[in-house]
Amino acid sequence: MNTDFHKIRRLPPYVFEQVNRTKAALRAKGADIIDLGMGNPDLPTPKHIVDKLIETARKPDVNGYSASRGIPGLRRALTDYYKRRFGVSLDKDREVIVTLGSKEGFANLAQAISAPGDVILAPDPSYPLHHFGFIIAGASIRGVPAHTPEQYLSNLGRAVKYSVPPPTAMVLCFPSNPTAAVCDLDFYKEAVKFAKKHDLWVLSDLAYNEIYFEEPTPSILQVDGAKDIAVEFTTMSKTYSRMGFVAGNEKLVGALARVKSYLDYGAYTPIQVAAVAALDGPQACVDETRAIYKARRDVLVDSFTRAGWPVPSPKASMFAWAPIPEQLRHLGSLEFALQLINEAHVAVAPGAGFGEHGDDYVRIALVENEQRIRQAGRNIRKFLASRGVKEIKPVAAAAE
Ligand SMILES: Cc1ncc(COP(=O)(O)O)c(C=O)c1O
Repeated sequence: MNTDFHKIRRLPPYVFEQVNRTKAALRAKGADIIDLGMGNPDLPTPKHIVDKLIETARKPDVNGYSASRGIPGLRRALTDYYKRRFGVSLDKDREVIVTLGSKEGFANLAQAISAPGDVILAPDPSYPLHHFGFIIAGASIRGVPAHTPEQYLSNLGRAVKYSVPPPTAMVLCFPSNPTAAVCDLDFYKEAVKFAKKHDLWVLSDLAYNEIYFEEPTPSILQVDGAKDIAVEFTTMSKTYSRMGFVAGNEKLVGALARVKSYLDYGAYTPIQVAAVAALDGPQACVDETRAIYKARRDVLVDSFTRAGWPVPSPKASMFAWAPIPEQLRHLGSLEFALQLINEAHVAVAPGAGFGEHGDDYVRIALVENEQRIRQAGRNIRKFLASRGVKEIKPVAAAAE
């Protein structure tokens, strides 16, 4: 029997798997691992949302199949959110679809719009699904260097020129996972202009729509005419709980709706009703979530920098994207991450897992509390000292 499955051969083993295996083995021996590896949100779902879920689940008539496109009330709540937050008008019946999460929505849209061999432009480094969602769908990816939005834009022309056949779509993701880079509305204007000139669909992943620490992040749908070519993915995973949306171009939303109509019956109705309560209800919980991530970010940057590892301060997202300390960069991101977990008991995500352009970096997720992040800093200080990397004294202390 053939077990060399065509699609599986195109999916390399998850780079994070090695770190995860080491983490499990060390924990089994009783080690206290501070896990800043996966971007798995650790904050609880706000109480009013959980209450709505329970209240709805108790009703006798909610157990049947839901709507694959999402219940109308939830699509309406998303259009209200877009109006309130971005000043963007959407038609809830044609331009919005509810997904189980943005991961599911992205993968199924990739499936819906790809033919074998189609070329898709995607950032490198990027969230793995941005490449592998299309690879699973049979398309080919052209990775475009993208440590910043400017770098991505400036490399897109060359990528189009040298792709045969010409690309059919491009992926955007700002605030970026993994680099935490943010973009402004002018970037989206340029991206829309470029996409229209080259007949490209745009899939913009706005997973960190509410996790920003300075300016609120814009939406590509704020650009005039963006809906002609673009859809945007948003998610509740980072704010309230798990549920996603795709909004924008009617043809793309329709293609996704068609595929999903064969694949699922929509999320359990009480979860969708609770999602309506999340979007329509008080938003103080989102401000609190943002403040928690911001405080963790500040502790991370401060304690890691003191330890001898200056980490650039992210303006948004749940991540810091940290260049490996120069003295240890030759190790590459996987070996560095393995040494860090084995010796400092701190798990981080190797940058190579996000693409070849990520190998000089690791991604550090803000998913442990401030005290544990400080402890991670202390552990790392000892680890780096053992490698000859000196701690950086705070300016006031150095002057003494
Ligand atoms: C850029 C990006 N897109 C999508 C997702 C997945 O979102 P969801 O939980 O809605 O599937 C994540 C989660 O980490 C992400 O970082």
